Amino acid sequence: MKVVVLTGSPHTNGTTSLLADEFCSGAMESSHELIRFDTAKLKLNPCIGCDHCRKNEGKCVYEYDDMIEIILHLLTADAVVLVTPLYYFGMTSQLKRVIDRFYSVNDLLRENSKKLFLIAAGADKDEWAMDGIKAHYKSLCKYMNWQEGGMLLAYGLGTRQDAENSEYKLMARKLGKEMCHS
Ligand SMILES: Cc1cc2nc3c(=O)[nH]c(=O)nc-3n(C[C@H](O)[C@H](O)[C@H](O)COP(=O)(O)O)c2cc1C
Repeated sequence: MKVVVLTGSPHTNGTTSLLADEFCSGAMESSHELIRFDTAKLKLNPCIGCDHCRKNEGKCVYEYDDMIEIILHLLTADAVVLVTPLYYFGMTSQLKRVIDRFYSVNDLLRENSKKLFLIAAGADKDEWAMDGIKAHYKSLCKYMNWQEGGMLLAYGLGTRQDAENSEYKLMARKLGKEMCHS
């Protein structure tokens, strides 16, 4: 399977980068083709809703930022993995701007079935803390016509150290390794 991993944290060595690394190691053990974009490190403009793309055959007004490369890989991916820390109960704005930029190729992506996975981590331990991001993930799958591959919701991870000492590290690797079967 071709797998596109989109991470959303601004921390190079933070909590979710550890979970993303583990996921990728597991996926590589199962010989998946992996392409990872650490979106916070890329030049990506947020969608400004100008509808330039709608009037110009899908061409975004931001023709020369890094989104074009992401889109090219998304169009041929079998699976997409969103990896994000919780920021006020949702994904980070760094990752959300990538999702919003789906807009220019919305129809193509919707016709193009794939599995969507979510790995989210937050400091909170309350179950409700993930309600928002869970609902967003489910709505995205439904609207995009993508299959729900699976979610790893990691509670109580305020720091990378918390993640190192948690069972979520293994769970992320397992999710990567077994993603074909989900
Ligand atoms: C702006 C901001 C908002 C946050 N909002 C939440 C939140 O709503 N719920 C939560 O559990 N943790 C929240 N956190 C904590 C982070 O999700 C947590 O520290 C996470 O481990 C950071 O992951 P990272 O190192 O991969 O960036 C927030 C942190 C920041 C900086």
